[in-house]
Amino acid sequence: MPISNSSSSSTKSIHRAASELDRADSVTSPRFVGRRQSLIEDARKEREAAAAAAESSEASEQIVFDEEDGKALLNLFFTLRNSKIPALSRALKVFETFEAKIHHLETRPRRKLKESLEDLEYYVRCEVHLADVSTLISSIKRIAEDVRTTKEVKFHWFPKKITELDNCHHLVTKFDPDLDQDHPFCFFTSSGEAIPRVEYTEEEIGTCPNNIPQLEDVSRFLKEHTGFQLRPVAGLLSARDFLASLAFRVFQCTQYIRHASSPMHSPEPDCVHELLGHVPMLADRTFAQFSQNIGLASLGASEEDIEKLSTLYWFTVEFGLCKQGDGVKAYGAGLLSSYGELVHALSDEPERREFDPQAASVEPYQDQNYQSVYFVSDSFADAKEKLRTYVAGIKRPFSVRFDPYTCSIEVLDNPLKIRGGLECVKDELKVLTDALNVLA
Ligand SMILES: [Fe+2]
Repeated sequence: MPISNSSSSSTKSIHRAASELDRADSVTSPRFVGRRQSLIEDARKEREAAAAAAESSEASEQIVFDEEDGKALLNLFFTLRNSKIPALSRALKVFETFEAKIHHLETRPRRKLKESLEDLEYYVRCEVHLADVSTLISSIKRIAEDVRTTKEVKFHWFPKKITELDNCHHLVTKFDPDLDQDHPFCFFTSSGEAIPRVEYTEEEIGTCPNNIPQLEDVSRFLKEHTGFQLRPVAGLLSARDFLASLAFRVFQCTQYIRHASSPMHSPEPDCVHELLGHVPMLADRTFAQFSQNIGLASLGASEEDIEKLSTLYWFTVEFGLCKQGDGVKAYGAGLLSSYGELVHALSDEPERREFDPQAASVEPYQDQNYQSVYFVSDSFADAKEKLRTYVAGIKRPFSVRFDPYTCSIEVLDNPLKIRGGLECVKDELKVLTDALNVLA
């Protein structure tokens, strides 16, 4: 898990919104166990866990939070008095005890003592479990003097190549045994692998009118239209990982189908929600770009921003409304796969507001019942523009750009790289200008 802390203390879970065909049913159904997973809830818990971990450390202000999988990279400086007691071996024992992986160890003379013994200053860069950081530091303090840690610009690791998404399946639990019956559902595939086909039973196929499309077929269709592809996941993903995959036009998708005995409701997002709700929208070029832009904005973002982006995702990709002609239509997958909420969203009951990413990113959401507020975009293009403005306000020490030729993320953190990007844009503009001239 790319967030901090011992993963045991935070319950991270998979993405996304309601998956029920009709959540009104779900609220009254005795089978309903509550929505245990939502992207926003995950993001909130991840932020709180990171904050708690930081608070638990005395030196939190100075610890490098370049963490991954609950590990922190720590730059530690200390001085060991050169005495008869073998202080270095005691110090190293501390690192060994906490199973810290030492990346770098450097020494330099510090000063001469009266007795002509030389103190040595040590610089250790090590990887340690975030939960152990403060204890490790206090243990070193008992042995060494002048213990200091350095402060660095901190941002979260994120995948730069599409193959690195394979490192982004930070599952907290695997599949819910209540849901996983007979199928060897695929937990996830590596980049480039075909999605295994699922042999749905007759009973399961009966949940849908006549067939359950295979994700591999749907993924190929999407790839041809907007470059989006599906990847199967049958576990609980962190919000950060889920959003990161969108940056590569990869949509994490479940193959699980709701139980045939309860076709109107599924406690988890299932392939009915994915196929009826998400997939049709991902086939739209502007919407696809909008979704990818949310993902790009999430790369290296703070926990607070991940929570806001997850909320934004909720009020757009899951529950968004959009004007079309004189009417208002739903495009959110949570609406498209829930006719009850669809009717509710377009009735006079809820409040409908003009889409404003700033407001939507902090709007309280509802995961146990229908939303009381929906955001209406003028068009996908307008939503995309507004999102762009919003994302520009997210503080990161760099910008990112997706390179569609290599399916990789370019980190724009120096003028040379930006110039290189501009060259590509110039080439594309030239092609389009020439095309216009041909038509003129
Ligand atoms: Fe969803």
